[in-house]
Amino acid sequence: MAIRKVGVIGAGLMGHGIAQVAAQGGCEVLVCEAQQGFLDKGLERIDKSLAKLAEKAKEKGQTFDAAAVRARIRGTLSKADLADCDLVVEAIVEDLDVKKALFAELGKIVKKDGIFASNTSSFPIAEMATASGRADRFVGLHFFNPVQLMKLVEVVKTDKTNEDVVAQARAFGEACGKSPITCKDTPGFVVNRLLVPYMAEAMKLAERGDASIPDIDVAMKLGCGYPMGPFELTDYVGLDTTLFILQGWVKRYPNDPAFQIPKLLEAKVKEGKLGRKTGQGFYTWQGDKRV
Ligand code: 3HC
Repeated sequence: MAIRKVGVIGAGLMGHGIAQVAAQGGCEVLVCEAQQGFLDKGLERIDKSLAKLAEKAKEKGQTFDAAAVRARIRGTLSKADLADCDLVVEAIVEDLDVKKALFAELGKIVKKDGIFASNTSSFPIAEMATASGRADRFVGLHFFNPVQLMKLVEVVKTDKTNEDVVAQARAFGEACGKSPITCKDTPGFVVNRLLVPYMAEAMKLAERGDASIPDIDVAMKLGCGYPMGPFELTDYVGLDTTLFILQGWVKRYPNDPAFQIPKLLEAKVKEGKLGRKTGQGFYTWQGDKRV
């Protein structure tokens, strides 16, 4: 079965991007939100991103049919509309109980051979898979921010995921213009397991006064060729998101020395300095640009 009709639940930072790249890959997409205001905002973000991609393509003398992509995306406030989706990707709030309840509900709504996926960055896929009642047809599909530009998707399989479902999820990732990698259902999968402790280690380096925040960022950009240093990237991802991931791991794996919460991170979040989205984190931001 090829994935042609995709439901995306949540039109926020990740959901709107997933919906967009799925439509760019030729899928018919239904974006489901709880409130009209959230849905409108997500669709507006898609419109802006498509306009930007069309502008970029024009500059390069290429064609990009933004209107055709947009025509494949529809919004809904009703989960019942997802009944005949080949794949439903969840990108809602990072709350395990809310996600489990959602998948239990979807398990009763969506056709039996439909595949379920979660874009979670912090919870075990297996727990949601069990709640859905179709653990064999459940994967993690972890996209990266900004979804429209980042070329990776992690396809996370549990002990129960059917190999055919993994193959279909990988093919879907490729259709979305991504390079899929496959990994097991372990904390942080591959990227966040390496990235988040690296960000935390950079914060501890700054806390000790070993180097300044801008110098650490310059070091990692020029020394390793990373597009953003660890502090700029934490601002980009969100300090609250980074703290939330670390807190979850510390709670689940209290004896693992790789998972520690830097005081600097806790203090910034307490002050409401969450990064790009609040205009202030380790740096000051105006929209998407660092000031
Ligand atoms: N849609 C369309 N266009 C977009 C866009 C979007 N969503 N976002 C940015 N663009 C456009 C920009 O407007 C810009 O256009 P311009 O040239 O006309 O100004 C163009 O794309 C390129 O942007 P930049 O000029 O900022 O160019 P960069 O080369 O710096 O690329 C970047 C930006 C891709 C964000 C790059 O800095 C990068 O790769 N940063 C690292 C991001 C990263 O590591 N993400 C992963 C985070 S971890 C994660 O997501 C996991 C989670 O679970 C925590």
